[in-house]
Amino acid sequence: MAPTTPAPDLANRPGSTRPDRPMVAVRGLQKSFGPVHVLKDVDLSVSTGEVVVVIGPSGSGKSTLCRCLNRLEVADGGSIEIDGEPLPAEGRRLAGLRADVGMVFQSFNLFGHRTVLDNVTLGPTKVRRTPKAVAREHALALLDRVGIADKADRYPAQLSGGQQQRAAIARALAMRPKVLLFDEPTSALDPEMVNEVLDVMVSLAAEGMTMIVVTHEMGFARRAADRVVFMDDGRIVESGTPDEFFAAPRTERARDFLSKILQH
Ligand SMILES: Nc1ncnc2c1ncn2[C@@H]1O[C@H](COP(=O)(O)OP(=O)(O)OP(=O)(O)O)[C@@H](O)[C@H]1O
Ligand SMILES: [Mg+2]
Repeated sequence: MAPTTPAPDLANRPGSTRPDRPMVAVRGLQKSFGPVHVLKDVDLSVSTGEVVVVIGPSGSGKSTLCRCLNRLEVADGGSIEIDGEPLPAEGRRLAGLRADVGMVFQSFNLFGHRTVLDNVTLGPTKVRRTPKAVAREHALALLDRVGIADKADRYPAQLSGGQQQRAAIARALAMRPKVLLFDEPTSALDPEMVNEVLDVMVSLAAEGMTMIVVTHEMGFARRAADRVVFMDDGRIVESGTPDEFFAAPRTERARDFLSKILQH
């Protein structure tokens, strides 16, 4: 039989350098904004290749948790380790760590005055010091991977919301992150564009990307999550497989929350 060429791993995850420890380890995380205590002793451990969906009511701290994980916010207490490395306080090591933790936001945050291709190559050339030609080739492969290769030379405003969000995912992947965080990546999209973005996320999950996804898309949670984490009032109150969680949430708060979102 002729040898088959393995599918290229376009996300090219570096994977964990130490498979015996979690890719993300959050312990006793505390965060306040002035008098408002937003994260209250949050513990979360995510294994390499695991997909964790975070759900919970508005204001429960989901975005703040994501922002602490890539240090857009500085936690007040507790610890965060990515692949066994504590989050550095600042400087070059912090830039390197940010590159290890990719983030995709609700609003796509693409640079409007740069082409899609430039948006995807900018991080690797500036932060990872990847040669331009190499970054370009990888970027084109990633744009193809998310289904918008033909949009490489367009500007973000010339793309639909779903296409922009897929460009944002390609941009995050271009840094070859160890972990990808998604904060409500489909909630700003018109309904008909939600699936094209979720499909890309499902395929990343299937390829083994380590992902933490804040979303109310329960279909995605059922299809792709290894674990669902329910937050309320700054705490993780429940954590389980999607089957366990959706069939029989243990806490009243989770039951109440699910009954509200599943009605829509
Ligand atoms: N920069 C900030 N300054 C002051 N308060 C903040 C700041 N960011 C968040 N908060 C407060 O922290 C709490 C948690 O906010 P966060 O955005 O993490 O919630 P969330 O679970 O992501 O909610 P949503 O589902 O609405 O996105 C809220 O009470 C919010 O008002
Ligand atoms: Mg939020």
